[in-house]
Amino acid sequence: MALTLLGLSGALTHDPSAALYIDGKLVAAAEEERFVRDKHAKNRMPYEAAKFCLQFAGIKPADVDAVAIPYAPISILEKARWHYAKRYLYAPDRALDALLTGNRRYYRYKKRIEWCLVQLGFDLKKIEIIPVEHHLAHASSAYHCSGFKERTAILGIDGKGEYATTFFGYGENGKIHKIKEFFDPDSLSGLYGAITEYLGFEMLDGEYKVMGMAPYGDPDKYDFSRLAKFENGELTINTDYANVIGFKRYKENGKGYYFSPKLIDWLGPKRSGDIADDPYIHYAASMQKLFEDLALQMIDYYLGDILRETGRLAFAGGGALNVKLNQKIIARPELKELFVQPASGDAGTAVGAAAYVSVERGVAVEKMEHVYLGPAYGNEDVIAACARHPAKPQWQVIDAVPQRVAELLVAGNPVAWFQGRMEFGPRALGGRSILGCPSAAGVADRINEQIKFRERWRPFCPSVIDRVGPQMLRSDHPAPFMTFTFEVSDEWKRRVPEVVHEDGTSRAQVLARQHNPRYYDLMLELEKLTGNGVVLNTSLNRRGEAMICSPTDALDMFYGSDLEYLVMEDVLVVKTQKQVEPAVG
Ligand SMILES: [Fe+2]
Repeated sequence: MALTLLGLSGALTHDPSAALYIDGKLVAAAEEERFVRDKHAKNRMPYEAAKFCLQFAGIKPADVDAVAIPYAPISILEKARWHYAKRYLYAPDRALDALLTGNRRYYRYKKRIEWCLVQLGFDLKKIEIIPVEHHLAHASSAYHCSGFKERTAILGIDGKGEYATTFFGYGENGKIHKIKEFFDPDSLSGLYGAITEYLGFEMLDGEYKVMGMAPYGDPDKYDFSRLAKFENGELTINTDYANVIGFKRYKENGKGYYFSPKLIDWLGPKRSGDIADDPYIHYAASMQKLFEDLALQMIDYYLGDILRETGRLAFAGGGALNVKLNQKIIARPELKELFVQPASGDAGTAVGAAAYVSVERGVAVEKMEHVYLGPAYGNEDVIAACARHPAKPQWQVIDAVPQRVAELLVAGNPVAWFQGRMEFGPRALGGRSILGCPSAAGVADRINEQIKFRERWRPFCPSVIDRVGPQMLRSDHPAPFMTFTFEVSDEWKRRVPEVVHEDGTSRAQVLARQHNPRYYDLMLELEKLTGNGVVLNTSLNRRGEAMICSPTDALDMFYGSDLEYLVMEDVLVVKTQKQVEPAVG
């Protein structure tokens, strides 16, 4: 009998998503933000995403055996709520809340999930809703999706779930065992988020920018060690400076931040706009270094034995998006393979919760080999969208799409590329991408002019065919999801300069043809023309906007940008001169 499980995330008021497992196979998964066109889809439930999953599989709500949610009640008998109360004594109302009504958030969230299920046509009397602790859901999204058969160390570094912020455990014979957890406010990811806010970016979004700034700064110029320490197996964040609530928060224009006025006294005013780099780039470097140092110490302390035994590590949670930390983990001599869940932020907990329940019910889940789990559209859909669109697109059906697009790229053009199923997780991996030829001088600048307007410290990344990956990246470690950076070989730094970061690294996707044949073939065509089986790849969206989902979204974005070429399946849309709007700025 089939086991059909729907996972729904969104417990923490951001990144709601849905994932559907049928008999251990991940049939569909998508983030709500893509459908509602609102990045991170804050304060929403995953209604559209769940509707898509059911429709894609051709099933009805009554066919679903259970709904798994990545948030659970936490017993007063556990350490979590007491730790929270003790550490937040300066805010007695919150401390007391944690002890007396510590599961209030869970019940509120469950109500919203029930409401969402009713809208989807579920019968609440018949459907079972199974809570999975937030960190177990992250851990499951890493371990169960890794395909690792050996004893596997499991790491979760996250802002905060119910109370836990950090998870150490191991997986063996399909079962997850907890070793240790840290609790709010002692959160390394939370500290990174607080400094991200101080550096003028948004938490849960701007961490990437901080990581991108770091190589421009000197991590030894300012000593950040006072912010956090790891001693005798315990992480302590200095809440004089960060991870603060209530009156301890720094406030500006009515908005409260997760750092304190004391941090401002120490480091100077909060960075705003694109103001001078100094000293902020050094702060970014110091924060990144502290994050890496503490994470590596904690890994060694709690997971070192398992790593020395089998060399396998599975990693998820927001902190797993820190590709520089991941590079350092991979460099450890005892490490054989690191699996990072491609949707390691909260969207991935829909997958993790459903996978967890599947395994508990005796159905092992398959290895997650790719992220092409969202909606796909055929040529007819694309043509219909063109026909409807107010910009009156000039389109044509073309043959030999990879070859034609390669020619456009080599001529120095950025091309918007829309093919197959939409990616699950924050990275565009050749389903909804903007592409460029990485050896065409100035193409990164052109993409920035035409659409992205990215800060200069955010480098563009490459997709690489599997045959070329090990030469270019000097590593044969699997890298299917752009979750790791690698040191680029000197020769390839010269060959594809547009995709190499300031510090000589690239955050690469190494693609096996079976997972996306058309994208792979495009890189083969580029290789014929340039000698490099590599393409510059950035996500198909404007700055601050969710990644494109449908052909209509793509057309809206295309006509709201200065891009000139958009290829969707076999349909090429070319902007006529008249339709090209003048460049911004
Ligand atoms: Fe999380």
